[in-house]
Amino acid sequence: MKKIILDCDPGHDDAIALMLALANPEIDLLAVTTSAGNQTPEKTLNNAMRLLTLMHHQEIPVAGGNRTPLLKPLETAGNVHGKSGLDGAELPDPDFAVQDMTAIELIAKTLRESIDPVTLVVTGPMTNAALFLRVYPELKAKIDRIVYMGGAMGLGNWTPSVEFNIYVDPEAAKIVMNAGIPLTMAPLNVTHKAQILKPEIEAIGQIDNPVAHAFYGLLNFFELYHENPKWGFQGAPLHDPCTIAWLLHPEMFKSDLMNVDVETQGELVRGETVCDYYELTGKPKNTDVLLDIDRPAFIQLIMDSLKTFN
Ligand code: BDR
Ligand code: CA
Repeated sequence: MKKIILDCDPGHDDAIALMLALANPEIDLLAVTTSAGNQTPEKTLNNAMRLLTLMHHQEIPVAGGNRTPLLKPLETAGNVHGKSGLDGAELPDPDFAVQDMTAIELIAKTLRESIDPVTLVVTGPMTNAALFLRVYPELKAKIDRIVYMGGAMGLGNWTPSVEFNIYVDPEAAKIVMNAGIPLTMAPLNVTHKAQILKPEIEAIGQIDNPVAHAFYGLLNFFELYHENPKWGFQGAPLHDPCTIAWLLHPEMFKSDLMNVDVETQGELVRGETVCDYYELTGKPKNTDVLLDIDRPAFIQLIMDSLKTFN
């Protein structure tokens, strides 16, 4: 069983990542921490707790993270995820208490208590992960890998060359990418191939349980934003669940090992992930970069996972 901590900013696609982690017994979700990103820190924390209430996993400890990125003011993505950060479905109010500690304290406690190494999955800006590494360097060895959704090789979805999660907190990303911990990156290059098509969303609408009904609403909302022809999509790209899908089924993906770093300066490119595909720098290959996905198998995993709830 793979032990993980999920640091997320729900967020429609974060919600699917969380759902996959809960539905599949090969993953042991030890804690959920939330970052400021898709919405304000209050809203992303509340959303994580609403999702855990919906999916009847109130036993999982949850803590809220830093209120702002390390150096920049917070920029949110209400245009993508709506006013609440999870528009499109009626979700229950949280019926359990948040942990009386910060996200980085919860990560530290979870790592100390785990005999096995733990994988840190990050599906929002990397603020909490970076702060954790700075405040608790002695616990770094307990993390066997950081799997994150963020960045791109030559693409952007927030500026022409910058992906949203890295855009929000590039300095945090730089700390994480240079921490010496093995990394798996799900960049836009793969997540834009991980699209769910409208008929597949309709098929989710046919799954008869309250969790699938809620995700049907969430997916319809998320899909609308991506209907703009500028993207050239046929559906909605499910970015964040690529991380959990890779942990569950690495054979669904093609990847390449290379050095990845972040540009933190620059008028046009602050937050761009620089992926050394051709090994031009000689720097250590710190990142397994996911580049292709078996899309039908990925969608099947989501369908099968949603069917496990009642
Ligand atoms: C990333 O940005 C957020 O809006 C999504 O939740 C995902 O983590 C995609 O660029
Ligand atoms: Ca996210």
